[in-house]
Amino acid sequence: MSSLLGHKIEQSEKVQKHIKELVQEVQNICSGIQTIQPSREDRAGASQKWIEKAGAFRGRPLYYPYVGTGAGRGVYVEIEDGSIKMDLINGIGIHLFGHSHPKVIEAALHGALCDVVNQGNLEPNKEYIQYTEKLVHLASKHSRLKYAWLATCGTMANENAIKMARQKKSPARKIIAFKDAFAGRSTMMAEVTDNPAYRQGLPEYHEVLRVPWYDKKDPQSGEKTLKALKEHVAKNPNDICCFGFEPMLGEGGYMPANREFFLPLLKFCQENKIPVWADEVQTFTRTGELFAFETLGLGQFIDIVTIAKTAQLGATLYTEEYNPKPGLIAGTFSGTTVAMRTGMAMIDMLTNEGYLGPQGRIVEIHKRFVEGLGKLGETSCKGKISDAGGMGLMIAFTPFDGTKEQVGTFLKKLFDNGVMAFPCGKSPQRARFLVPAIIQNEDIDLALQVIEKTILEGV
Ligand SMILES: Cc1ncc(COP(=O)(O)O)c(C=O)c1O
Repeated sequence: MSSLLGHKIEQSEKVQKHIKELVQEVQNICSGIQTIQPSREDRAGASQKWIEKAGAFRGRPLYYPYVGTGAGRGVYVEIEDGSIKMDLINGIGIHLFGHSHPKVIEAALHGALCDVVNQGNLEPNKEYIQYTEKLVHLASKHSRLKYAWLATCGTMANENAIKMARQKKSPARKIIAFKDAFAGRSTMMAEVTDNPAYRQGLPEYHEVLRVPWYDKKDPQSGEKTLKALKEHVAKNPNDICCFGFEPMLGEGGYMPANREFFLPLLKFCQENKIPVWADEVQTFTRTGELFAFETLGLGQFIDIVTIAKTAQLGATLYTEEYNPKPGLIAGTFSGTTVAMRTGMAMIDMLTNEGYLGPQGRIVEIHKRFVEGLGKLGETSCKGKISDAGGMGLMIAFTPFDGTKEQVGTFLKKLFDNGVMAFPCGKSPQRARFLVPAIIQNEDIDLALQVIEKTILEGV
């Protein structure tokens, strides 16, 4: 019996050959990208036009004068002004394997040959099923998570998480979240996010109760947070729909917390039947294990987890008890075929190529980078680099006194010197790096040299 036509496309020798050739051609062209390079005079005018257009048509200028050309190699990216930057922010955490990675391009090309661009919940292709299977398989090794529902971004995955928790705890409305949390920018997530600047002019719904984040300088920090949690629960009987948390405070300042901090909080939630939702939109794939709840050993407490960024789409994973009634979650898009193929390829590389575990590459990268920053803070940059840390591939430090102006100026100069980072946190504000897993040791050393040079230029 002849095979199905879709299988024929996948298995066609001609298709395979062309894809291989295309990937190789891109690698050949991009092989000229080796390290940081300054901008080129002959590109100044053309680049400026792109930058101006970007601002003109979206009504707000770009943060950096960055317009990518579509070419890169590993941690390096070429931009329209002809410069090569070391990209240590990666689209705020999307490009875990950097730029123009051959396996990512190969997966994308296979996805692009499929009959549809976007897949949906009504008419899925195989990738939709393979992806949910992969996520459930990997998550269920260390938790009770049993199902996965795809969405197009982290915010939408979070919306689905809260709807599942609310339906289960109906009619409870209130969410307990950390001070300085970030959860996205929909109406609901702008409320969960603890930053008034992100909801200027929006009505307030008073549905979020705050508890303080871990303070490493305060030995009573854990007790204080537990006390605040208990008080909220006592004051809002039958009105708490979930406890939502980022395993490391992300946009709020890249502040990690340890297992001992979380444990009593999650135990209390479990004993009081409060659904536990871990927002792993940023931490997924970055902490040395696939899920931060594995790194922190908290899997048994998790009822719902959300992911996005590196996954190339959003997903909500949940236990049997939280499987919602039909109609609660759906939507037209579940992601592009290219996003599904590339997301799965990245997860496969992570799990099969030595990145995970205590001896894995992610832990090594973290150590080298953070130790390097720490050393600068004790030597040439004393008093100008402090509090270097984070979790896995999420690394930050406080430049100077951590004022918004100082950090903004430092980051712009760092960009001019060839390294891309981004701020997080409010007081202090910090410089953060979403380091790609493919970074090499010599790139880390170069990044540290550029950081040192930029700090010494002052602000
Ligand atoms: C912890 C966390 N939750 C949710 C989001 C929102 O995700 P998205 O921007 O894909 O909607 C982000 C994005 O930075 C995040 O860091």
